[in-house]
Amino acid sequence: MNDNKIYLDNCASTRVGDEVLEAMLPFFTKEFGNASSVHRFGQQARAHVEEARLQVADFLGASPKEIVFTSGGTESDNMAIRGIAGYHRPKGNHIITSQIEHPAVLNTCKALEKEDFTTTYLPVDSDGLVDLNQLKDAITPQTILISIMHANNEIGTLQPIKEIVEMAAHHQVLVHTDAVQTVGKIPVNVEDLGVDLLSMSGHKLHGPKGIGALYIRKVTKMRAMMAGGSHERNRRPGTENVPGIVGFGKACELAEQYLPLMDKDIRALRDRLEATVLSTIAESRVNGHRVKRVPHVSNISFAHVEGEGLLISLDLKGVAVSTGSACQSGALEVSHVLTALKLAPQWLQGALRFSLSRYTTPQEIDTVLDKLTIIVQRLREMSTTYAPRSHSSR
Ligand SMILES: Cc1ncc(COP(=O)(O)O)c(C=O)c1O
Repeated sequence: MNDNKIYLDNCASTRVGDEVLEAMLPFFTKEFGNASSVHRFGQQARAHVEEARLQVADFLGASPKEIVFTSGGTESDNMAIRGIAGYHRPKGNHIITSQIEHPAVLNTCKALEKEDFTTTYLPVDSDGLVDLNQLKDAITPQTILISIMHANNEIGTLQPIKEIVEMAAHHQVLVHTDAVQTVGKIPVNVEDLGVDLLSMSGHKLHGPKGIGALYIRKVTKMRAMMAGGSHERNRRPGTENVPGIVGFGKACELAEQYLPLMDKDIRALRDRLEATVLSTIAESRVNGHRVKRVPHVSNISFAHVEGEGLLISLDLKGVAVSTGSACQSGALEVSHVLTALKLAPQWLQGALRFSLSRYTTPQEIDTVLDKLTIIVQRLREMSTTYAPRSHSSR
């Protein structure tokens, strides 16, 4: 990374790929037409929007007609859940999701509860997996939608989406998955998964911010969330974000080429980071499923330290990571994801998420390991609860 800074927060956002930026630039300057205009400027913009739609669809194994461009993952999640809820209300008013979803899903469900919908928030086990038996028991004749994320954004655990879809099909229930953290990291194919709706976001896969897509299986009936023009086949009104869409299409095309690197090299780097931490820093623990997970994320708890203290100390040394907990109004709040794992108290506060990308280098991981070891030791020495012990890690 530039300026000797090391960026390991790729679950939050990623650097725009050079080829992505290059593909976008003409659409800010020469080819700035509105894709709905009849003249040549408009028609050129339209052609590029449709080419990008094809790139996104190909990447997911979908048909271009099944791709609706949105402003990102949050809008895609809202569109999926609100769109299904609005249209299928006559059939039922029950939605099933999990306790560890992104706020874009959790808060959409909470908002719908104010409009006479009910939600079941499935618990997860200590690795972050939903239990299929609990899911089966939660389905009622009123259930219209199951929305379970493909991979969790804090711990990386992958949910059994195919099995969820099979179960839902027995009850004619639709399935949405938030795949914001899997698309571009592992192969994601909508036919293989069998889902009815799938959310994705451009800036998580080296595309620009402010662009994303919702995959909507051909036959799926849903209500449009916003009123306006007839853009996106009446699914999402508003002038298309042509540069964003073009960049997003290019980002998908490139991400496909990098999938083998993510699976092999980046997974190996992540595993080395983890193995070294566990063997050199006592009382550290990896959170989430050790096998069923995306290749680029590691969530590690360090006993006797605060995640925020670690994050700030690492930032001062030029390393960007993130913490599982959010600091709200001065109070240190434990992440809802780690809370749902029901971890022992010593693992809740000092959690850090390291998220790698195709740009992460082995040298960067070595540097992070050196700095981390020193920082954890220094912070522990200032902690009142710390007394050095024999090695215990997971
Ligand atoms: C799992 C998940 N869903 C949704 C979102 C929201 O995506 P966006 O930032 O594109 O709105 C994020 C972003 O962190 C995410 O990780």
